[in-house]
Amino acid sequence: MTMTRKPPPLLLAAALLLATATGAAETDAVVQAWPARKPQRDAALEARVEMALKGLSLRQKIGQMTQPEIRAITPDEVREYAIGTVLNGGGGWPGQDRTATPAQWRAVSEAYQAAALQATPGIPLIWGTDAVHGHNNVRGATLFPHNIALGATRDADLVRDIGRATARAVRASGLHWAFAPTLAVVQDVRWGRTYESFGVDPELVKRLGRASVEGLQEGLKEGRGVLATAKHYVADGGTRRGIDQGVSPTTPTELAQVHGAGYLGALDAGVLTVMASFSSWTDSAAYVEHGKMHGNRLLLTGVLKERLAFDGLVVSDWDGIGQLPGCSNEDCPAAINAGIDIVMVPFHWKAFFNNTLRAAEQGRIPMARIDDAVRRILRVKFNVGMASSVPATVDALQAPELARRAVRESLVLLKHKPGLLPLKQTSRVLVVGAAADSLAHQSGGWSMTWQGRDTSNTDYPQGTTLLAALRQRLGTAQVVYDADGSMHNPKDFDAVVAVLAETPYAEGEGDVRITENLRHSHRHPQDAAVLQRVAGRGAPVVTLLYSGRPLYVSDLANKSDAFIAAWQPGTEGMGLTDVLVAPADGKPWPGFTGRLSFPWPAGPCQFSAHAANPWWPVGGGLSGREARADAKPLPEPADPQPICPL
Ligand code: GLC
Repeated sequence: MTMTRKPPPLLLAAALLLATATGAAETDAVVQAWPARKPQRDAALEARVEMALKGLSLRQKIGQMTQPEIRAITPDEVREYAIGTVLNGGGGWPGQDRTATPAQWRAVSEAYQAAALQATPGIPLIWGTDAVHGHNNVRGATLFPHNIALGATRDADLVRDIGRATARAVRASGLHWAFAPTLAVVQDVRWGRTYESFGVDPELVKRLGRASVEGLQEGLKEGRGVLATAKHYVADGGTRRGIDQGVSPTTPTELAQVHGAGYLGALDAGVLTVMASFSSWTDSAAYVEHGKMHGNRLLLTGVLKERLAFDGLVVSDWDGIGQLPGCSNEDCPAAINAGIDIVMVPFHWKAFFNNTLRAAEQGRIPMARIDDAVRRILRVKFNVGMASSVPATVDALQAPELARRAVRESLVLLKHKPGLLPLKQTSRVLVVGAAADSLAHQSGGWSMTWQGRDTSNTDYPQGTTLLAALRQRLGTAQVVYDADGSMHNPKDFDAVVAVLAETPYAEGEGDVRITENLRHSHRHPQDAAVLQRVAGRGAPVVTLLYSGRPLYVSDLANKSDAFIAAWQPGTEGMGLTDVLVAPADGKPWPGFTGRLSFPWPAGPCQFSAHAANPWWPVGGGLSGREARADAKPLPEPADPQPICPL
């Protein structure tokens, strides 16, 4: 039998002391990496908050902290449980009717509001939605290009205008809160949410993130603006291999200066809500696993609420609490104790309400923490002018000219045979590629539905596909559509316009798996086949790629005379023809002003935002006016579908 020798008490004490000291040192390093900010309190607002807080029972306080999905709660239940907030997730519509009008959205909002005000007089309900590229759940709304495209414009004024227009649309439907902007600084483009990011440059993310919040929250008190959401805090875009909801290994300095940059911009703009990230953080300098952000008190409270003096509210992500050790979707004191103020608990909200009430009664959540959460919620709510001055009309959902400008400014020309673009007014054009007439492919994820799929052009009565736009610009007689390119001979045309596209996706469903790579032909062979049919057949080929990320396309670019990264343009296809075709009114051609906010890969395994020797670096792109083209074909890998190194 082996006797296990106990370490002498002195040694044990020394080890404990060392561990505590090391832990404290690491904590300091994490907090000190962020700039100290001072709270800016409004005395009158604080007095109103304290007064309202005093009048609430514990039950009412828990109701303020509980956020169900509209598909799972009625106005009567809002009243019964004194619920203070609801959301509609992607593909959540009033009455589950995707054709619901702004007036119908507004009527449901007013029913929830009346119920909430009966339960907690003077304390309004706030309804949140993912308006991430326009009010993208509501039929008829203008859909703007996603953030990856806006990053290519580098235009903060444009982004601010889009925020303002989006706020108007959200208010038209009677809602108060947009879960936007995403402030991810992406490190690996395999991530399915790459397109929600402005780019890989922290300073660009900071600048555009600030502009987005300024636009969204402008006129908040007057009933025009909406609450913005800095998300997903923090380092959602830094996970290993771009795995959605994975682990982000960074040093405390990288965490603050790279992944935190957008939050500093959002805080400068006065952002009032922050959404916690599903991802986890590992301090790669001290080798400390900090675990899921939803339970990270050091970052949610120590850094965000104390060091950065954030006075607004932190909302969890969709059932994010259920991912914490020892927690479920129905019960997680640890998340609230870490600093989550509103828990997004879409369908398990009743059980969560009862479990959380009990945990507070039993002291497993201190009353001081409950009161701090509710104080923050009230502070945010009292900043929102509830009487909206925006009419509940489809017109208020729309800003087509602004979106058209965003499309124009976002296009990046990666290859061009001098003189090919712009196409002439008299050009006869053969259009190929199924995506050329698909508003779903043109809009990407978070469009009418969560994944942006299971929709048809009839879901976008306001939209214009590239095909329709070319027909408007050149006349139907000059534009022939042949989806797979098999029915016509390119030599009968002045040019071929080929549209290739990623199938729309959102979140983890868009992750490039480690058994795959970035080769578009590999993941969408039908696109390669279409291009194969028309390339080198007697007419120059202008290829547009609709994608949520940079992809390996050298084999496709080598079959094209012009190659354009078009991202996900959204509903305003006319913005594409504004650059593809010479202006009809004799105005000067704008050329291509978009420049990459991500490097563009030269190989199928160039996933990293910092890959060496990409085809194009950050800032890359042609104007279309260059006199000379790079005649050499792009190198293509011997093995077109390599399994990339982990
Ligand atoms: C999703 C996303 C988040 C979104 C939320 C509500 O899972 O992570 O960005 O705001 O749920 O739809």
